[in-house]
Amino acid sequence: MKVLGIETSCDETAAAVVEDGCRILSNQIASQVDIHARYGGIVPEVASRQHTLSIMPIIERAMSEARVTWDDLDGIAVTIGPGLAGSLLTGVNVAKAISLGRGLSITGVNHLEGHIYANWLTGDSLDLPLVCLIVSGGHSDLVLVKGHHDYVLLGQTRDDAAGEAFDKASRLLGLGYPGGPAIERAARSGTVSIPLPRAWLRGSHDFSFSGLKTALLRLVEDGKITSAQDAAASFQEAVVDVLVTKTVAVAREYHVKQVLLAGGVAANSRLRQSLTEASPLPVLVPEPILCTDNAAMIAACGYFQFRAGKTDSLDMDVIPNLRLT
Ligand code: KG4
Ligand code: ZN
Repeated sequence: MKVLGIETSCDETAAAVVEDGCRILSNQIASQVDIHARYGGIVPEVASRQHTLSIMPIIERAMSEARVTWDDLDGIAVTIGPGLAGSLLTGVNVAKAISLGRGLSITGVNHLEGHIYANWLTGDSLDLPLVCLIVSGGHSDLVLVKGHHDYVLLGQTRDDAAGEAFDKASRLLGLGYPGGPAIERAARSGTVSIPLPRAWLRGSHDFSFSGLKTALLRLVEDGKITSAQDAAASFQEAVVDVLVTKTVAVAREYHVKQVLLAGGVAANSRLRQSLTEASPLPVLVPEPILCTDNAAMIAACGYFQFRAGKTDSLDMDVIPNLRLT
């Protein structure tokens, strides 16, 4: 079964064709990073306008890379939330138009679930139940995956998401946007030498990163940061330390068989390395291009929804604050 995936929840316009939920035939992404960089963050109105310009060319590129015509496709999977309302609307309306015009079934996908399903594209075999750490710009969720589309949310952030923390720290240190890759780059030439706090929230699987951000802000304001590289390395280590320690604790507690990493922050090589070293269980991590927003993960998730008989009608709507559970 060949599924066309469409993803426009934030600032990447993406389309992909995936076969049987695991074979990527194409994966096209038009990034808006350069456009938003001059504002130091995503401007929602600019993002949705840019999606309307990029979406059809990106879908055409994905279909031509996959060497498929409309007749070769079996369905469309499109992100319905969570995300920016205006951005989501572009993808969903285009998907509906194609569905109507070409007689293709359509299924609405939860973006967070899509991040989990990026792991079905790695070629590794997945062994349920497993624990997945989803770390993105808007979420830091520890999820018990009991089966397809069967989740228990074990922990989440009480304030900033991990990606948001990276973005804010990068801005504080003058390292630019997007913050995650900028911090990672700077950290490579720095040493972990600045003591920064970790919020362990003992007895809970939740996260909190706002205290860490405030601690960094105080050091910057007091002129105590003499090396942005050392600050980046120390900050990255503090975030990774908490993410890894809590993920390993949950994996032990729930007696799962594997640990998955997902979401944009999962592209961070220190996090990938540290979790792999600390985990007593096999750790699966998609390649970085499948961690950050893409449509292949949406098509993969959509395939399993189609298989479970979940198709949507043309009156489906975007759900900007959609939750995983
Ligand atoms: O999943 P994603 O692409 O979009 C959302 O669903 O939010 O995640 C974006 C987040 C941003 O906060 C970005 O700074 C972070 O992922 N990110 C990283 C890295 N690459 C992207 N954080 C740390 N290290 C990276 N290499
Ligand atoms: Zn995402």
